[in-house]
This record gives sequence, C-alpha cells and structure tokens, in this order.
Amino acid sequence: MPHSTPHALAVDDDKNFLSALEDLAEAAGFQTTTVTSLAEAKEEFSKSIPDVILMDLVLPDGSGFELLNDLDSAAASTEVILITGHASVDSAVEALRFGVTDFLLKPIDVERLRHILIEIARSRESRAQIQAIEEEVRQFGRFGPLLGSSPAMQRVYRLVSRVSPTDATVLVTGESGTGKDLVAQTVHRLSRRHKGDFLPLNCGAISPTLIESELFGHEKGSFTGAQKRHQGYFERANGGTLFLDEITEMPLELQVKLLRVLETGQIMRIGGDRALDTDVRVITATNRRPEDAVKEGKLREDLLYRLQVFPIHLPPLRHRGRDLEHLAEHFLQVLNKGDSTSKELTAEAFDKLREHEWPGNVRELKNVVHRAFIMADDTIGPDEIPLDPRGDGVSDGPSIRVPIGSTIAEAERKLIMATLEEHEGDKKESAEVLGISLKTLYNRLNAYKEEDGGSAA
Ligand SMILES: Nc1ncnc2c1ncn2[C@@H]1O[C@H](COP(=O)(O)OP(=O)(O)OP(=O)(O)O)[C@@H](O)[C@H]1O
Ligand SMILES: [Mg+2]
Repeated sequence: MPHSTPHALAVDDDKNFLSALEDLAEAAGFQTTTVTSLAEAKEEFSKSIPDVILMDLVLPDGSGFELLNDLDSAAASTEVILITGHASVDSAVEALRFGVTDFLLKPIDVERLRHILIEIARSRESRAQIQAIEEEVRQFGRFGPLLGSSPAMQRVYRLVSRVSPTDATVLVTGESGTGKDLVAQTVHRLSRRHKGDFLPLNCGAISPTLIESELFGHEKGSFTGAQKRHQGYFERANGGTLFLDEITEMPLELQVKLLRVLETGQIMRIGGDRALDTDVRVITATNRRPEDAVKEGKLREDLLYRLQVFPIHLPPLRHRGRDLEHLAEHFLQVLNKGDSTSKELTAEAFDKLREHEWPGNVRELKNVVHRAFIMADDTIGPDEIPLDPRGDGVSDGPSIRVPIGSTIAEAERKLIMATLEEHEGDKKESAEVLGISLKTLYNRLNAYKEEDGGSAA
C-alpha cells in the first residue's frame, strides 16, 4: 500500500527559507522533512523516497543536479521542484533534461508553489486510492461500488482508473441499467474533486425551455418569471463534477452552448453581460448509440467529438459471464441483511437466471431478485423467479397498447380479449396465463356481452 500522507523533502542551506518551504509543504498536505546539505539529502533518500523534492540548486556541498543523478528508477514518480537564486540558460536546459516538474526563481512566487504542491498532493491521493481499488478487484471482484470481475468489466475499471484523476470530459455509454450512473459517480469519487459536489442533471427529465437556465443560471428579470438571480448547475458544481445524463435529450441549440462552455471553461448566465469562469468536470451519458443519435439529428456531431475524448462503454449484462451470479448473490445478501433473513437461491434458480437475456441489464436483475426475495420463504427456486419462460422478458411477444387515460376496466378488457385471441379462444389456457380463475374469466366475458348489448366475445 502506498502511504496515505504524501511526503516532501526540502533541501536548502538558508534556514529561514527552508522553514518557509516546510510550512508551505505542510499546508499543502505533505509530511515534510528538511535538510540543509546534499549529503543529508542523499542520506534521507536512502531511507525513504519522497513524493516531492523541493531543492535549491546550489548547495554548500555541491549541485542539486548531483542528487537528481542518483534518483534511480525506483524514484521515477518523485516530482522535483528546483529553486534557484541565479538562473542560467544552461541550468534551465539541464533541469529540462532531468524532467523536473518546475523550476522556480528566488524570490519565489509563493502562490504558484502552493498551487503546484496542492496539485501534486491531490494526484498522489487519487493514485493511492486507485491502487487500493485495483487490489480490491483482485481480492473481492469489485471496483468501488461496481461489482463484477469479468474481463469486460475489468476493461471498464482500467478506463475509469485512468481517466478519473484527470479533468477530461467523459462520455459513458451502454444499454439501460448497465451502471452508467454508478460509473459517473465512481469517476467523481476517484478524482481529485471528490470533496466537491457531484451534481446529476437528467436532460430528458426537464423541460427544454428550462434547461438552459438550470444549467447556466439567469439574472434577475432576464425573462418573465425570473424574479431573482438564479445559480445554474455549472456554478453550483464549481470545484466538483456535473453529470449530464441523457445528453441526446438536450435541445440542439443548447448543445452548441455546452460545447462552447467546454471549450472556454466559461459560462454566461441568461441575461448576464459577463462570462464567469467555471471549474467543473463534465461527465455525460446516453443509452443510445451516439453515432445513431448524430444521424437522427439528436446529437450534434461537433459536441460528440468533444465528448468522445474519453468514451467508456459499459457491456450489457449478457456479456459479463459469471458476474451475473455474483451480482444476484450480492443483491440477495443485501436484502437478507436488511430483513435479518438467510434466503438462498437454488441451483435451478441460477440456471433460470443464466438463461435469461436481461434486456434491462443489472437493474432488471436487481428487481427480479427483489421480487423473488419477497415471494420466497427460505429457498428461492425457479418458480419464485418472475421471468418469462421464453427468456425474453416483455420485450418481444405480441403486446397491446393501453393509452394513458384508459380506466383499469378498459385495460383489463383489452388484455383479456388479446390473451384469448393469442390462445385461439382457449378459455382455460387464457385464464391460467391471466392468473385468474376460469369462473372469473366467464364472469368478465358475460359482463362484456351485457355492456355491448349481447354482441361481444
Ligand atoms: N456493476 C454493478 N454492480 C452493482 N450494482 C450495479 C452495477 N451496475 C449497475 N448496478 C445497479 O443497477 C442499477 C442501475 O444502475 P444505473 O442506474 O447506474 O444504470 P444506468 O446505466 O444509469 O441506467 P439508465 O440507462 O436507465 O440510466 C442501480 O441500482 C445500480 O446500483
Ligand atoms: Mg442512468
């Protein structure tokens, strides 16, 4: 395990300056060791390798470059910040050759150094977190909140761990219920923004006329009903992550504006007259194929190019092999824990789960396990698993349309008549499929006959 508190080594023979460096590094979250000579620095180095070295180039017993020469591959990830009172082109070139992180002149720009140190501390922190998580996948078959260790999911984890520490815009794709929300949250959690907010906005769930003001905010009086200034999601997510779900539902003219914000890092409130800087990482998601959405004119191609800087595609559940069983088992254990029960799935129940196609993916599995859990007493057999025996859920087969606004009675009648038709008038079979008694079915049919003045069924 990497140490959780990053370590800094400060080297300077000017004691006052050294103590100022120490204060700065400590404030940025580093545990800091100070030494005043090259010899002491080398000794420190043999004991432990720091995450960052802050070093005066000219030391009483030699040049800082000597120490850099000693840095072997074990210290390849150490960041070096050189500080010097007398810069020369030669030393700057030499510093470049050693790949130093930064080269600062005395008197140093304290703000700049503070900023560099904070950036290093943050990236170390997320790297340590990612290593811990990769270990978790090996041991427990999960990556943070994401369960599963199939090769398809391991590819996803690698992408997530790569992109999280950066500020890159991410586009998460995958069928409905594959875990896109969960991935977006995980990217945020593993980023250096994890202490900031994660704000989700579902572009499909909000009226197209409101979405601009929701995103960018508005000034008082900028339109009828704008009674006071309103902060948009971009402003509120400052320092954090904004998750724009169902991005293809965003009106096209707003997609243009979003693209501009992503390019410039600046937003303008509706009715505002100046651009505001924002520090927001944007993650987007869609359950459609983005290229299709472009073809259908639902997604602007230029925005897609910008979003696709880093795409993460979630595989459907049917491509995840044995993850299915582990997920089912996990969901069951969570329910067992909540109810202090110890219900179990039988081998036949697992077979039935494996045969299903799972068009609704992990969400569907979670719901199926939940319903089975409620239906079963101690053991959950195939009969308690509420799946269509054809194994295709409700997606295929013949279906009826019931317009919203119909009464339950009307819907019931439609379903009964359609079922009878599907079973070629066989009342016994139809009653069974409908889950009602044969007597109830006869009663209903008689009632329909009466309603229609004796002509129907
Ligand atoms: N790998 C996983 N491990 C554990 N739970 C998961 C996993 N993937 C998804 N889930 C669970 O399945 C449900 C659906 O996941 P989520 O909402 O992230 O899917 P989605 O792809 O965003 O769906 P939609 O397309 O409908 O927005 C959630 O309850 C989530 O916690
Ligand atoms: Mg979602």
